[in-house]
Amino acid sequence: MRYLTTPIYYVNDAPHIGTAYTTVTADALARWHRLLGEGTFFLTGTDEHGLKIQQTAEANGVTPKEWADSTVVRFQESWAQLNISNDDFIRTTEPRHYAAVTELLQRCHDNGDIYLGHYEGLYSVPDEAYVTPAELPELERQGREVIEMREENYFFKLSRYEQPLLDWYESHDDFVLPKIRRNEALGFIRQGLRDFSISRTSIDWGIPLPWDENHVTYVWFDALTNYLTAAGFPDDPTRFEDMWPGTHIIGKDILRFHCVYWPAMLMSAGIEPPTNVFVHGFLTVGGEKMSKTALNQIAPADLIADFGVDGYRYHFLRDQPFGPDGDFSYEGMVARYNADLANNLGNLLSRVATVVGSKCSGVGPAPDPDSALADVVSASLEAATAAWGRVAPSVALEETWKMIGATNAHLEQHEPWKMDPGADLDRIMGDALEVLRIVAVLAYPAIPGSSAAIWERIGLEGSPADARLPEAANWGGYPGGLPVAKGDPLFPRIKA
Ligand code: MSP
Repeated sequence: MRYLTTPIYYVNDAPHIGTAYTTVTADALARWHRLLGEGTFFLTGTDEHGLKIQQTAEANGVTPKEWADSTVVRFQESWAQLNISNDDFIRTTEPRHYAAVTELLQRCHDNGDIYLGHYEGLYSVPDEAYVTPAELPELERQGREVIEMREENYFFKLSRYEQPLLDWYESHDDFVLPKIRRNEALGFIRQGLRDFSISRTSIDWGIPLPWDENHVTYVWFDALTNYLTAAGFPDDPTRFEDMWPGTHIIGKDILRFHCVYWPAMLMSAGIEPPTNVFVHGFLTVGGEKMSKTALNQIAPADLIADFGVDGYRYHFLRDQPFGPDGDFSYEGMVARYNADLANNLGNLLSRVATVVGSKCSGVGPAPDPDSALADVVSASLEAATAAWGRVAPSVALEETWKMIGATNAHLEQHEPWKMDPGADLDRIMGDALEVLRIVAVLAYPAIPGSSAAIWERIGLEGSPADARLPEAANWGGYPGGLPVAKGDPLFPRIKA
């Protein structure tokens, strides 16, 4: 099973274009793997324990669970609106998750990797992490709440896993991608690893340690374990065996937790580390980091209102390459929408439907088996497949759009709207319909709703979701003889 996950988002935050970036990318990837015919399971969810949530709930005069119940809906609704095809939605307050965390802790404990110690120092509440005095000035500059903590904690012997982690990285070259993030993780490990605290006595909103109920589990130990819970750990070993190891898609802010702590925790419990961790950069808005206090977080719904769901998805997948940081700009989004969706793809579809309507009695002809466009398609297919494989959706879509560009050029060269009905015209229109069919499949991970609409308009049965690659992209799949519908523009032009 190909098991893909997003981070679980803090339930007291509202979804914004940053969290949606990870979720949409993971969704596109899951859809791509399903097209390849691979068994795919896609997980997202929410992180519902910890000091931050306890504090917010108190401030709102409700219990933490009541608070989480009322805010989790924002994520569920936002993801539904973005057409996210997750197979499961995990909440860390579910009983199944308590069972998994308890079992994982117990295994690490039994393995001698957990001991009682004391912690005295600084704690960043929004990051749910201990910080060093050296980090304090920067955190204060960002206005993040840092408090003094003094308490008895259980610690996890991370120091014991320095060499095992280095060995793992050595033998798993692609464990963390892209390479720049792998180097970042390796650099951190090589600096020397310090044991980290895995329990708290100062808060009670969390999962109690199985051997000492006065302590609750540190929120990161708890949160990371969600990936095991949703895979059937510990109660369904058959399912777990099929599902695990998984692949995590995360932002660079939580690299240390996923690429250092997490594999060590798993090794300690005798569980294999994840297959891959794909790490992307951060989106800024007008060059500024997004934050609640700066009031510059953009909600997906605001952009969906202007660009539609697929306009939204396409922009972030196409214009924000996976890996480096990127700046969001509304003008850039309009420009890309108009160029790629309204003009290139939208025009191709409407031109084809118009000419087929007026010159082929509305019945789509079959493509020419020897069409020059077949070579363009196979080259783009190969490049797009490789790009999805290395989590480069922007490149995959650029390649897919090359087919559209070539087909529009082909139409402009032959000007079928000026031709008389007959075999020559049929060949040209059949070729264009065939490209539309293949594009509907290849663009489906990014723009699922629009792909399905194209599929239907060119008279095909079912949905591009049922197509299987690479066969579905073989030239000649459009049978001809199908009714082609004109319909309203799929992507109406947007005025800047
Ligand atoms: N709850 C933890 C994660 C636990 S996973 C076991 C957490 N939650 S979060 O709500 O803060 O989400 C962090 C993730 O949201 C980032 O890793 C990234 O995937 C996404 N993003 C949040 N802000 C982002 C940007 N500005 N840009 C891109 N992605 C961003 O950390």
